[in-house]
Amino acid sequence: MTLSFNSVKSEAAEILSEIQARSFDQNSEQAWSAAAIADLLHSPGTAAVVVLDDSDPAGFLLSRRAGPEAEILSVCVLPAYRRKAIGHQVIRHFQAEAKRIGIREIFLEVAEYNNAALALYGKNNFEIVGRRRHYYGNRGERKQDALIMKYRVK
Ligand SMILES: CC(C)(COP(=O)(O)OP(=O)(O)OC[C@H]1O[C@@H](n2cnc3c(N)ncnc32)[C@H](O)[C@@H]1OP(=O)(O)O)[C@@H](O)C(=O)NCCC(=O)NCCS
Repeated sequence: MTLSFNSVKSEAAEILSEIQARSFDQNSEQAWSAAAIADLLHSPGTAAVVVLDDSDPAGFLLSRRAGPEAEILSVCVLPAYRRKAIGHQVIRHFQAEAKRIGIREIFLEVAEYNNAALALYGKNNFEIVGRRRHYYGNRGERKQDALIMKYRVK
């Protein structure tokens, strides 16, 4: 496996949307349309990194910067590529980039029962700093709180 981390713009919205749809459960409200992702990537401070295995997409990380803070909006790894430290590496890549450009804190939201993501973020030194009650599950899924996590850039 030869991984590379590639910054992409709104032209990649279609592929990001496809990776996301294949990464989340089908009915998940976390799968965004290509148009919604393209809109996001046109807005200031938003950035995306696609992880390629040779030339095959394996996952991505979508983020937004606002001054000294950044937010991870979405991180996904395709099922066939899981548990190979790709999620870990793309987050570390983003943490290093955040440090390089002077970001102090990185925030994210994660569903309370998303054990894989919680373990991944914990391993990368994110701490739980808040909770939004019943934030996920408006489409008839089980309602879940969102946990807000923060990483202090060091
Ligand atoms: C969460 C996700 C990005 C993890 O990607 P990944 O590349 O498989 O993660 P990694 O291989 O880098 O795992 C790093 C660590 O996270 C934890 N982890 C990852 N997947 C896990 C799982 N299914 N169960 C428990 N812990 C898990 C482990 O601590 C793991 O370290 P280890 O393999 O040494 O035990 C991936 O499962 C995914 O895309 N899920 C669907 C989308 C999603 O929920 N995104 C996050 C919310 S936006």
